[in-house]
Amino acid sequence: MDTLVFLTPTFFSIISIFFLLNFFQVSYSKDDVHFTSCPHPFDCGNLGNLSYPFWTDDRPAYCGYDHEVYKLKCIPNQPPYITISSQEFQVVHLNQTHGLMTIQRVESEENTCPEEIFTYNVFNYSDTAANITLLYGCPSRGFADNSFTCKKDQSETFAVFGNNDEYHCRGKVVEVPVGKKARDELIRGTRALDKTLFEPFETRYFAFDDYCRPCKNSGGRCGSNKNLTKVFVCYCRDRPHLIKCEPGGKGFSLGVKLPIGIIPLTNFLPSPFSLLS
Ligand SMILES: *[C@@H]1O[C@H](CO)[C@@H](O)[C@H](O)[C@H]1NC(C)=O
Ligand SMILES: *[C@@H]1O[C@H](CO)[C@@H](O)[C@H](O)[C@H]1NC(C)=O
Ligand SMILES: *[C@@H]1O[C@H](CO)[C@@H](O)[C@H](O)[C@H]1NC(C)=O
Ligand SMILES: *[C@@H]1O[C@H](CO)[C@@H](O)[C@H](O)[C@H]1NC(C)=O
Ligand SMILES: *[C@@H]1O[C@H](CO)[C@@H](O)[C@H](O)[C@H]1NC(C)=O
Repeated sequence: MDTLVFLTPTFFSIISIFFLLNFFQVSYSKDDVHFTSCPHPFDCGNLGNLSYPFWTDDRPAYCGYDHEVYKLKCIPNQPPYITISSQEFQVVHLNQTHGLMTIQRVESEENTCPEEIFTYNVFNYSDTAANITLLYGCPSRGFADNSFTCKKDQSETFAVFGNNDEYHCRGKVVEVPVGKKARDELIRGTRALDKTLFEPFETRYFAFDDYCRPCKNSGGRCGSNKNLTKVFVCYCRDRPHLIKCEPGGKGFSLGVKLPIGIIPLTNFLPSPFSLLS
């Protein structure tokens, strides 16, 4: 008789707990894999809270804009690295609201020569950046601060800033980006060429922020899916959508079902005293 009084609420609460656990498991395991793989914001190096269009080694390319320019190599407490046209840069500042990324050439042991960078229509120089002309394969005499040596195709070359009419260099002529302020100082002769090249400069990146906003606001996570649109996709709990998540999809019904799941549990929760008596 004691057993019967004790069993009834316990029985119901066990059923409720099973129901609830099962519900959570089912709804989470069925969430779209793209959605679950792209939580945001995420941490990277010393830049703090990052989100679309950036991605990393630990984050699939489809969580960002699937282009090398947006792939960050994260190192704890340091500026992340990016690779543009096979050259390594560090991202020293990011202004995500205005799509501005300040990058700096990395001084490597290999001392490879700076090359042109291709902007592929995914980013561009900002208003504060400009090209300078570098001449490679120059005779190594009398250029003072306007020159430096670097490695090109495994051999040392002498590089000069300026106009080939003056210098008679036999190598390639390249246009490389630097900050406008540093360039002006280089021209005035108040800054050495190697110092100019390792100054940070600002680039502007073109992501789909106008698309991303409604996606985020609808509970989605921005990304790209080459299969669908090539450029932008909004990952929602139920499946990828073009722009934003639809109410009535799984993301919405989770919030509605949750209280209903809790009500039977709390109603039938046995009092600890009834278990002890
Ligand atoms: C990241 O966001 C969290 C929560 O919004 C905030 O507490 C933290 O200060 C942010 N970190 C940085 C580096 O901005
Ligand atoms: C981002 O860039 C805008 C426009 O240049 C500027 O007004 C703003 O102060 C910058 N914000 C940060 C945090 O750098
Ligand atoms: C990139 O910047 C250059 C020079 O500022 C400008 O002429 C060009 O139109 C820009 N390209 C894009 C795609 O904005
Ligand atoms: C810089 O040089 C590159 C390569 O020659 C060129 O594509 C680009 O338009 C130039 N940008 C500016 C701002 O002059
Ligand atoms: C793209 O399509 C391929 C082949 O149909 C599929 O295996 C892959 O999962 C799809 N990618 C995404 C991100 O949906």
